[in-house]
Amino acid sequence: MAKIKRIGVLTSGGDAPGMNAAIRAVTRTAIYFHLEVIGIRHGYQGMIQGNFKELKAHSVSDIIQRGGTFLKTARSEEFKTVEGRKKAYDNLVNAGINGVVVIGGDGTFTGARIFNEEYEIPFVGIPGTIDNDIYGTDYTIGFDTCLNTVVDAVDKIRDTASAHNRLFFIEVMGAEAGFIALRSGIATGAEAIMIPELINQTQNLKKVLEEGFKRKKSSNIIIVAEGDEEGGAFEIAEKVKDDFKEYSVRVTVLGHIQRGGSPTVFDRVTASRLGYAAVEALLDDQKSVMVGLQNGEVVLVSFRKAVKLNKDVNRQLLEIADILSI
Ligand code: F6P
Repeated sequence: MAKIKRIGVLTSGGDAPGMNAAIRAVTRTAIYFHLEVIGIRHGYQGMIQGNFKELKAHSVSDIIQRGGTFLKTARSEEFKTVEGRKKAYDNLVNAGINGVVVIGGDGTFTGARIFNEEYEIPFVGIPGTIDNDIYGTDYTIGFDTCLNTVVDAVDKIRDTASAHNRLFFIEVMGAEAGFIALRSGIATGAEAIMIPELINQTQNLKKVLEEGFKRKKSSNIIIVAEGDEEGGAFEIAEKVKDDFKEYSVRVTVLGHIQRGGSPTVFDRVTASRLGYAAVEALLDDQKSVMVGLQNGEVVLVSFRKAVKLNKDVNRQLLEIADILSI
C-alpha cells in the first residue's frame, strides 16, 4: 500500500448532528500527523465530479457545535455504478489522494466496501446517522442529539396531552429500525412503543390502552417508529381510535427536526474520538473498516460486517419499557 500522504474526507447519506465535529477531528488529526487533507463536497457525487477543496486546520474552526455538514451530503446513484466508481477513482488519483475517510451510514459503507474490493485506495468509515442502526458500534454519531430533540418535543406534547386527556401517536424517524423510538419512549415514559423489529403490536397496544383507561391515566403517548410494519403513526391511530372514544386522538410526526440542531456533548466527544481513530487506522494501513464504539472503547469493524449483519434492539430495554409504563 502507498504511504498515506494526502487523505480525503466526505459525508454521505442523511446528515446527522456531530458530522461537523467528525470532519474537524479527521482534519486536525491528519494535519497533526503531517498529512494533507482534501474535503470532498456532496459525498460520493462530489468524488465523481472532482468537487474537492483543501482543508487547513482553520478551515474547520467554529464548526464543532453546528448541526448539518459543512461539506454537504448526498445520496449518489452514480456511485452505485462501475462507471461512477471508476470516475471517482480517477479523480482521487489525479488529486493525489491515497486514503479516504467516509462519514455516514449503511449506504455509505456499502459504497465504500464495494470501492475497496475494486481499488487499492483505502477507505475507513465513521458511523454517522441518527438511526443508530449500524452493526458493530453501540452508538452512531447523531443518535444522542436526535434523542434529546425527540425527548424535548415529546415532553412538550405530554403537557398538552395531559391537559386534554388525549391519546397521542408520535412518529419518530427510523425507516428500518426502532432505536430512536425505543430509547426516546423509555426516556419520556411512553405508554407504548411501536418498532419495526416487533410484529403484530396493535393487539397489544389495545390491551395497554384498555388497562391504562381502567387506571384512569389522563394521557397516553404512543411512540411509533416511521418504519413500523403496521404503518406509521397515522395508520396505527386509525386502527385503534374507534375502540377508545373516551380519548380524543391526535397524531404528531416529528420529521426532520430530528436531524438538525447543535450536537450534544456525547456526540461531539464521540465524533472527536472516532475522527482521530479513523486517521490512525489509515496510518496503520487499515482498509475497508469502520471505527466504532463498543463498551466505551474504540474498535475496528470490517465494512462487510457493519453492513451485512443486523443490529438488534436491546430486548431488555423493551421489557423495561413495558414494565415501567404500567
Ligand atoms: O438519516 C436517517 C433517516 O433519518 C431515516 O430514519 C429516514 O427515513 C431518512 O433518513 C429520511 O431521509 P431523507 O428525508 O433525507 O430521505
